[in-house]
Amino acid sequence: MHFFGYRGSNFYAEGVPVQKIIKECGTPVYIYSSKTLKRHYEAYGAAFAKVPHLICYSIKANSNIAVLKTFANEGSGFDIVSGGELFRALKAGAEPKKIVFSGVGKRDDEIEFALKKGILMFNVESPEELAAINRIARRLRKKAAIAIRVNPDVDPKTHPYISTGLKKNKFGIETAQALKEYINAKNNLRNLTPIGVDCHIGSQITKIEPFIDALAKTRELLKTLRSEGIDIQYLDMGGGLGITYDTEAPPHPSKYGEAVIDGTRGLGVTLIFEPGRSMVGNAGILATKVLYTKKGSEKNFIIVDAAMNDLARPSLYGSYHAIKAVKESHGEEITADVVGPICESGDFLAKDRILPSVKSGDCLAVMSAGAYGFSMSSNYNARPRAAEVMVDGREFHVVRERESLADLIRGERLVPEGRRRRK
Ligand code: LLP
Repeated sequence: MHFFGYRGSNFYAEGVPVQKIIKECGTPVYIYSSKTLKRHYEAYGAAFAKVPHLICYSIKANSNIAVLKTFANEGSGFDIVSGGELFRALKAGAEPKKIVFSGVGKRDDEIEFALKKGILMFNVESPEELAAINRIARRLRKKAAIAIRVNPDVDPKTHPYISTGLKKNKFGIETAQALKEYINAKNNLRNLTPIGVDCHIGSQITKIEPFIDALAKTRELLKTLRSEGIDIQYLDMGGGLGITYDTEAPPHPSKYGEAVIDGTRGLGVTLIFEPGRSMVGNAGILATKVLYTKKGSEKNFIIVDAAMNDLARPSLYGSYHAIKAVKESHGEEITADVVGPICESGDFLAKDRILPSVKSGDCLAVMSAGAYGFSMSSNYNARPRAAEVMVDGREFHVVRERESLADLIRGERLVPEGRRRRK
């Protein structure tokens, strides 16, 4: 069941014509399907129903509070990487005891915020961070529950920018050193309680094997820790399951679930997962309007009103996003680059794409844009960020207003005239 698709020649998000949303909200606009969000959460829930588990949706993929609230209502926990994400999670009604805090560079104020809110655990990425959390917890007279993120040195065979579990990556602590750090934490860092082992090897992973390789390594560590008297209750497998953008065929969460359940049999742990992309990627599209078309001797261009500031993935990783006409036509086709108005040649949404030969004023839907779309958007070229809309059946709601020109300079100030330093 797909919640985005054509009915006749009109493209729909659930029961709402995308054209209707565009008419009311303008373009560019992100459109999310709440039924798809729920279905993805349920797919993970069903995959792990047989074992104790906690799904902690990874907020960085899409941090709109309406998206977070949809997951919180389903019982989801959250994976955060900043104080800002913790703030968002709490605004959306997240239960602190279902929050894990990941990331290589947590600041003191962020650690303090999370400790005061009583999150489930910190996924710690360096010995210095362990010491920092211990110091802050002592000052607050608290105990901080921690897991160490181990770097299992596994190649997830994905884009280098989103591989994270190799020795050359900045993430985690190598397995052998992690063991020493756990023992040090147990013996010397009085305000820490090691309760978990954590591992995240990368993103947009389309095979099961890298997960299983990583699991084999973390499982060994977990057993060793238990034999050292460290009471590990949680095994956090991170996120990373890929989605279909084009022709990729990633495993369904149920297949991933079978393999993980198999690999963790008898361990007696609660499994934690931090899926981001697979929860929201295919639950969102970016609708945009064609401004101009132009034909060159080498290339045709479709210039649209969405740009790399709205969806950075094609420019940043060369990612593929399918593009569909909001009003289907069976006429002529052209091969064109779909580009934005930004003054950089890297500003494109698609290259050499075969599309219906659209004209100025027609609208396009950039597919699979729910993950790392709006959340990575910026104001580059002083472009107000897009609106976000949540569709639910035949209804839709604006869940983030389009930014105004005034929003662009919010917080900016001129230097007071009289105080300028004289040269
Ligand atoms: N947990 C940790 C510790 C992570 O670093 C990430 C993603 C996730 C969970 C969620 O991974 P997912 O299930 O979404 O693969 N901007 C890139 C993706 C960056 C992923 C960063 N970490 C993109 O647009 O492809």
